[in-house]
Amino acid sequence: MTRDEALARQGYRHACHVMLYGDSSAKLFGKIPIKHIVLMQMRFDGLLGFPGGLVNPSEETLEAGLSRELHEEVGVAVPVGVDDHMSSCVSSSCPRLITHFYIKKMTEAELKEIERAAVASATDHGLEVLGMVRVPLYFLKKGGGLPYFLSHSFISNSRAQLLSALRHCRLLSQGELKEAVRQAEQMRR
Ligand code: GTP
Ligand code: MN
Ligand code: MN
Ligand code: MN
Ligand code: MN
Ligand code: MN
Repeated sequence: MTRDEALARQGYRHACHVMLYGDSSAKLFGKIPIKHIVLMQMRFDGLLGFPGGLVNPSEETLEAGLSRELHEEVGVAVPVGVDDHMSSCVSSSCPRLITHFYIKKMTEAELKEIERAAVASATDHGLEVLGMVRVPLYFLKKGGGLPYFLSHSFISNSRAQLLSALRHCRLLSQGELKEAVRQAEQMRR
């Protein structure tokens, strides 16, 4: 559903999360291009998810609430706009919750500053957020890289949000995504 349709629904709570990402020319082991930086976080409950959280639309806009959550969780009140909105849907794990998902592209320098601030100044660091993590987008031998990453456990539908964002932003090809998901499913058996 659209952002407006979601806000018109009665009796739901709202949560906003964002994928912060950008390009990078860095190379793993000096030879494997990492191509992009994509930030997720290890949550207090041991699940992977995106930074963000609960927003009260009667007190703040969805985007202002998301920036407030980013200030708490990554130490920088990254401005997020209506244009960064990607999708809204009723949560699979919480029936009276609508989750809104945003994608925001940043520079490598801005992303590195966020990684530093997430440790140095975020009030939630070590509490609700155990650490920011980069998503490996490459493939190594025996499922290393993205397949292993996808085989971990994710909060709510954040794994599907990650896959749809990687496709939407063309950070990986359709074929690469399919292959990563296939290898990840095999590992979970
Ligand atoms: P508090 O500050 O403790 O209230 O937490 P929060 O406001 O940071 O909330 P949180 O980020 O845990 O998100 C609220 C709810 O949204 C969670 O209970 C999950 O059900 C869901 N959720 C959390 N992270 C994600 C995510 O990355 N994607 C999606 N789709 N849902 C998420
Ligand atoms: Mn080493
Ligand atoms: Mn929070
Ligand atoms: Mn949160
Ligand atoms: Mn919160
Ligand atoms: Mn909190």
